[in-house]
Amino acid sequence: MTVRNVLKMGDARLYQKSVPVADFNSPELAELIDDMLDTMQARDGVGIAAPQIGVFQRVIVMGFEKNPRYPTFKPVPLTTLINLQWEALSDEKVFAWEGCLSVPGVRAIIPRYRKIRYSAYDLKGNKTTVEAEGAIARIIQHECDHIDGILFPQRVIDIRHLAVESEVMHYIEEGIVPENLLQIAKKKND
Ligand code: NI
Repeated sequence: MTVRNVLKMGDARLYQKSVPVADFNSPELAELIDDMLDTMQARDGVGIAAPQIGVFQRVIVMGFEKNPRYPTFKPVPLTTLINLQWEALSDEKVFAWEGCLSVPGVRAIIPRYRKIRYSAYDLKGNKTTVEAEGAIARIIQHECDHIDGILFPQRVIDIRHLAVESEVMHYIEEGIVPENLLQIAKKKND
C-alpha cells in the first residue's frame, strides 16, 4: 500500500508502449494494483494506468464514488483491467473536458467514442467483455492511450481546446463545453 510518484508530461517514459502482463496471480501484480489504487485515490484520479507510476505493463485501474475533479461523473465501481483492449461500437464521438494526473493543472476538450466494447483480465486471469458509454467509455479510452504511450493533449483537435484548469473548472463543474469552442471542434473533426 504505497502512494507512488506520478510521471508527468515531458517524461519520455510516458510515450512508450507498455507490454502485456504474462503472469497472473503473482504478488508483484497484486502489489502493483494496490499501489495504483492508492496513488489514484490520493490524487483524486478517476483512473490511472501503470506507466504513470513507472511500470510499463498494460494494467489500468478506475473507480470512485464522487470525484471533485470530475463532479458530473456518476460513480464507477473500483475496477482492475489487465491487458485491456477496446473497440468502438459506432462512429459517434462525444466532446468533453478531460484531464490527467500526468498533466496537472491542464484540461482540454477531447473527442472520444460514445459507445465501446472492452475486454480485459482481472488479477486472477479471468476475462470479461463489457459494453460501456459515458464516463466509463471515456476513462477506458484515456487509460488505454496511456498504455499505448499517448497523452490526452495529443488528442486535441484544435490547440485552443487546451486550457489552464482554473480557467475552465466552472465549465467542468457544470458539464458544459462552450458552444464557440465546440464549433471549432466539430469543424476540425469533419
Ligand atoms: Ni491520464
